[in-house]
Amino acid sequence: MSVHQQIKKVTTHVLSEMKLKGEKISMLTAYDYSMARIIDKAGVDVILVGDSASNVMAGYETTLPITLDQMIYHGSSVVRGVERALVVVDMPFGSYQGNSKEALHSAIRIMKESSADAVKIEGGQEIIESINRILSAGIPVMGHLGLTPQSIHKFGTYAVRAQKEDEAERLVADAHALEEAGCFAIVLEKIPAALAARVARELTIPIIGIGAGGGVDGQVLVVHDMLGINQEFSPRFLRRYHNLYAEITGAVKNYIQDVKSQDFPNEREQY
Ligand code: KIV
Repeated sequence: MSVHQQIKKVTTHVLSEMKLKGEKISMLTAYDYSMARIIDKAGVDVILVGDSASNVMAGYETTLPITLDQMIYHGSSVVRGVERALVVVDMPFGSYQGNSKEALHSAIRIMKESSADAVKIEGGQEIIESINRILSAGIPVMGHLGLTPQSIHKFGTYAVRAQKEDEAERLVADAHALEEAGCFAIVLEKIPAALAARVARELTIPIIGIGAGGGVDGQVLVVHDMLGINQEFSPRFLRRYHNLYAEITGAVKNYIQDVKSQDFPNEREQY
């Protein structure tokens, strides 16, 4: 029986075991109780309360505006819907860049107020002091390298990262630094597949990819993208498993028609 089938509650240790056994890790985002409940019951291993909530829930263009309080609100809503998956909450922009004390304070607030299992933080060696401080408080940390959307204004584009050798070597060094510090896993976003596979081979902790090919230890997608709720975003790495936009539009049109024609409510649908 696979680790996935045996486990009642996914922990960071379970994820290490999955990597050791060559069993791929599934991860999806969620931002609210109802969606988290569905995808947890479906058996996803990790639920990420991503700061992509800023885009898909709040309609902002970037992930920068979302606040720590808002991430805690989304995190606690998700945690109430989850029994099995490991719940990871993103540390939002502005909650850790100032100094390591501020980073620790933000991570403690996330853990205390949302009851999540871990935090995720974007960046490499430049934030290692903050990561060390968070880890020393006993808070599990997931790293995030490659395309780091909180730095969009530094790079100016969401293009594939680490295509040049010097950037690729820096990314590998950052990944090693995160592992040595004690991160339990790393997300690699939008980098060449061969580079991501190299990182997954060299590191003992699980590497979860998004737009990073199949040679890593697991995959993550934004749930609104993979369910086709969000139609505007179609990068090459995205596989759509459903067209919920069309399904919801159809259902809403039927409802409008039934209300206008006075078909709804009928006699059985009233008191
Ligand atoms: O915020 C998010 O959804 C993420 C994933 C894209 C990895 O960080």
